[in-house]
Amino acid sequence: MTLERPGGKRRRHLDEVLLALEGVSLRFGGVNALSDISFDIRKGEIRAIIGPNGAGKSSMLNVINGFYQPQEGTIRWKGRERRRMNPYLAASTGIGRTFQNIALFKGMSTLDNVMSGRALKMRRGLFWQLVWIGPARREEIEHRRRVEEIIDFLEIEHIRRTPVGKLPYGLQKRVELARALAMEPELLLLDEPMAGMNLEEKEDMARFILEVNEQFGTTIALIEHDIGVVMDLSDRIVVLDYGRMIADGTPQKVRREQAVIDAYLGVAH
Ligand SMILES: Nc1ncnc2c1ncn2[C@@H]1O[C@H](COP(=O)(O)OP(=O)(O)OP(=O)(O)O)[C@@H](O)[C@H]1O
Ligand SMILES: [Mg+2]
Repeated sequence: MTLERPGGKRRRHLDEVLLALEGVSLRFGGVNALSDISFDIRKGEIRAIIGPNGAGKSSMLNVINGFYQPQEGTIRWKGRERRRMNPYLAASTGIGRTFQNIALFKGMSTLDNVMSGRALKMRRGLFWQLVWIGPARREEIEHRRRVEEIIDFLEIEHIRRTPVGKLPYGLQKRVELARALAMEPELLLLDEPMAGMNLEEKEDMARFILEVNEQFGTTIALIEHDIGVVMDLSDRIVVLDYGRMIADGTPQKVRREQAVIDAYLGVAH
């Protein structure tokens, strides 16, 4: 699959470090899910995290969004060291995500699912929402407007009223992306956004990821097994294998490294 970047495959200036990990290790009992991992994510880039099954990719995202607390290492967000973290705190500082296994409210409509992604942005409490007056009303209208924009952007208007449980898998993944975008994250974590999709659905999703990055300026960390997609989309790639980082760099650099070829590219998946 080849993708045209709207601006051509320009080399971008990625100077500003948004997130920096240093010496991060995460253990589950005797399992070293992550061992001494150090890399950074720069503002505006698409950063891929790849590696074989069980390499530690999802664990990595779970550390970044505060779901897991690493036993060792430091994490800096915009230059400041993060201490205790949880997904709510991470989200409120601007880190949004989608999951490897879709985590939507299946009985709720597309619109309501995307609206739920706004929860963090809603300042007025339930009382004001209920009485529906003044500032709460204006705020609600503004949230609806943003949500409708995202729905248009991802071309899911036709399913806005459909319960998401009734949608085909590819569209559910797109709704999940819409919900993550609704919180207007600065850094968006995508855990296998194209898994289980057919070629056409993958091409659509790849296009949307590029457009989110280009048009909203959202920084993206992406886990994906389809190496063609990764090579086309990403500015830089981190390669994990058995919880260790075995390569880090541009697609051109990483694809030539023997350790990567041995561990990942060389083995059938
Ligand atoms: N909550 C947990 N408890 C115990 N072990 C875990 C937990 N989460 C992950 N692991 C283990 O940590 C290692 C890394 O798992 P992880 O899910 O991060 O891999 P992955 O690279 O995302 O794999 P996949 O490509 O299959 O999604 C595996 O050995 C896994 O079994
Ligand atoms: Mg995973």
